[in-house]
Amino acid sequence: MVKVGLGLLAALLSLPLLADNNAALEEEARDVTEAFMMSLKSSLKASLAEGGPVEAVQHCQQLAPALAEQYQRKGWHVARTSMKLRNPDNAPDIWELEQLIAFDKALSEGAAPASLSASVVEPGRFRYMQGIMVAPPCLACHGESLTPEIKQILDARYPHDKARGYTAGQLRGAFTLWKALPE
Ligand code: HEC
Repeated sequence: MVKVGLGLLAALLSLPLLADNNAALEEEARDVTEAFMMSLKSSLKASLAEGGPVEAVQHCQQLAPALAEQYQRKGWHVARTSMKLRNPDNAPDIWELEQLIAFDKALSEGAAPASLSASVVEPGRFRYMQGIMVAPPCLACHGESLTPEIKQILDARYPHDKARGYTAGQLRGAFTLWKALPE
């Protein structure tokens, strides 16, 4: 009886601590996401300016994994996912799919794009997701009317590509991150 009581007390006392800890991890995840997004955007811009969209498609294919590896060294596993995939390697797992559906629903009910994020503590790891919106520069490769050049290279590299036909302001997918938690 006493044991249960103490256990309960300990659990109650540790709740605010856990919440604080999660808030700190969430903030860290937000920072990593921001940095990852900025690197992706600036590299995309540079390769579009240098070699045009076809070059940028090639670059994009290698870029995201290369950047992700960089963050992995800091303990964060960073990737992107979507309900309409270009690269099947980016497929969501169940938790990710649930968040993507929730983000889409929230957006259709008027939520601000910046509010689309979620986190969860699973055994051994902290996970975080943040929505990615379609902006006008994305349409060259994800929009409704692609140039024949882009279409050709996408068809060749991504035969099962579903990430087309978007308009600006739609949810494209999400950044998805996790970090191992100390035992
Ligand atoms: C130059 C063409 C190009 C442009 C412009 C572009 N993308 Fe992509 N996008 C790609 C390619 C190629 C992939 C597949 C990368 C891979 O193989 O992992 C991709 C994959 C993605 C993915 C990962 C999920 C999936 O479907 O595999 C997301 C999310 C994404 N793009 C969002 C965006 C957003 C948001 C923008 C605008 C800020 C954008 N993209 C602009 C070519 C482009």
